[in-house]
Amino acid sequence: MKIKNICCIGAGYVGGPTMAVIAQKCPEINVTVVDLNEKRIAAWNDDNVENIPIYEPGLSEVVKDARGRNLFFSTDVDAAIDKAEMIFISVNTPTKTYGIGKGMAADLKWIELCARQIARVATTDKIVIEKSTLPVRTAAALKDILDHTGNGVKYQILSNPEFLAEGTAVEDLHAPDRVLIGGDRETAEGKTAMQALVDVYAHWLPKERILTTNVWSSELSKLTANAFLAQRVSSINAMSELCEHTGADVNEISKAIGMDSRIGSKFLKASVGFGGSCFQKDILNLVYIAKSFGLNEVADYWEQVIIMNDYQKRRFAANIVKTLFNTVSGKKIAFLGWAFKKDTNDTRESAAIYVADYLLNEQAEVEVYDPKVTEEQIYADLDYLGSRSEEENRRLLKVIKDPYEVCKEAHGIAVLTEWDEFKTYDWQRIYDCMLKPAFVFDGRNLLDLQKLAKIGFSTAAVGRPIVLQEKMAEEPSLAI
Ligand SMILES: NC(=O)c1ccc[n+]([C@@H]2O[C@H](COP(=O)([O-])OP(=O)(O)OC[C@H]3O[C@@H](n4cnc5c(N)ncnc54)[C@H](O)[C@@H]3O)[C@@H](O)[C@H]2O)c1
Repeated sequence: MKIKNICCIGAGYVGGPTMAVIAQKCPEINVTVVDLNEKRIAAWNDDNVENIPIYEPGLSEVVKDARGRNLFFSTDVDAAIDKAEMIFISVNTPTKTYGIGKGMAADLKWIELCARQIARVATTDKIVIEKSTLPVRTAAALKDILDHTGNGVKYQILSNPEFLAEGTAVEDLHAPDRVLIGGDRETAEGKTAMQALVDVYAHWLPKERILTTNVWSSELSKLTANAFLAQRVSSINAMSELCEHTGADVNEISKAIGMDSRIGSKFLKASVGFGGSCFQKDILNLVYIAKSFGLNEVADYWEQVIIMNDYQKRRFAANIVKTLFNTVSGKKIAFLGWAFKKDTNDTRESAAIYVADYLLNEQAEVEVYDPKVTEEQIYADLDYLGSRSEEENRRLLKVIKDPYEVCKEAHGIAVLTEWDEFKTYDWQRIYDCMLKPAFVFDGRNLLDLQKLAKIGFSTAAVGRPIVLQEKMAEEPSLAI
């Protein structure tokens, strides 16, 4: 089966980059990415490719290569569905905020809307691909909706979860560890559909990297992968607290255990906690699914990963208060970073949001600098929590466009994102313009603490011994 037209519903962090790379690598296939969000589509179509709505290293170049040739961004969802033989559903699947499963289950209303729209519009047979991360057995629900239109159109549902990481999306899409395709291997139509998708990826990937499974294994593999990755972060974060009490250094522990090939070195960096749109929502979803089967021990096991992560964010904020002589009321805390990780402008579930909220509750004055996140986004994140009025958020928290300005006359600096540029700052200049004693709280284990201590900073990094500026070192009560 030859695919000539692909449609992707959802032009977000997954749909945009994934389709841009498919278009780049498959010049004979027309790829149209559609979205209801007009502003987002307009940004994808901006004459200046630097203004596309998602910041990812290398993405602007890929879009520049393919856009207008065989990559299109549009709000005309119906037209793109009708024309395509293959439709990716790449819409958001956030945690439900209402009704049954509130705060745990994935909200599948956007997925269902897509299925209903496809069912309404399609006049020719389609391969429908779940690109979004979904609860296991969602394909059965999609099939139910699509197969009951009575218009004779035939559908094959495939699961093709996305494993890219924000910040390295283009790299990950160009050379993924594996691509996973789940489908119906029992029927000829199912096999043909799977082969059609294998052929798309085979444009640039060796066959052995393209894994095929049954639909349920594919759906559940994505939730499992995110649960395992997040669990490693929570595991090392749990050890970070023990390190702070014992004088062990969590970086040294990560290195020591990471060299064990049975453990491996990735996802062993202690931090203020993981963020991002996926880990928390996917684990909560997994917990919800396990509970719905009555598997309470399984649910409790995975829920602990989230409990630990929430604790780590609170603990980091509480350490700031404690170290700054048990009060931050009226004190300026400079935030370096707001994005949930470096090299992305995505802030969903970023630890910075929760640390800021905690400190604002303690009446701190927070000022934020992030190289890629907009002021509008930062306020939207805070307002979303509903902890205080919008006016109060704008009065207590300021967004500053200059890193040196943000640190000026601050009592403490909190590093919330591991942006590389933070390492290159003139830290002497920063020290000179801060209030003394000058504190740095490194939530990412990013900075050279010894160098900072030499300048005169007192430093506290997650999972490492506190380094107090010389005169204060005689005051052991200040250690966290
Ligand atoms: N962000 C990641 O790193 C990542 C990685 C792997 C998997 N995923 C999964 O991929 C899915 C999408 O995530 P994302 O980060 O791209 O989300 P996103 O919020 O950035 O993008 C989703 C887009 O879908 C659009 N949309 C929603 N309903 C629509 C409809 N009916 N018709 C047209 N457009 C519609 C929204 O307007 C939005 O622009 C989620 O299930 C997520 O769990 C995300």
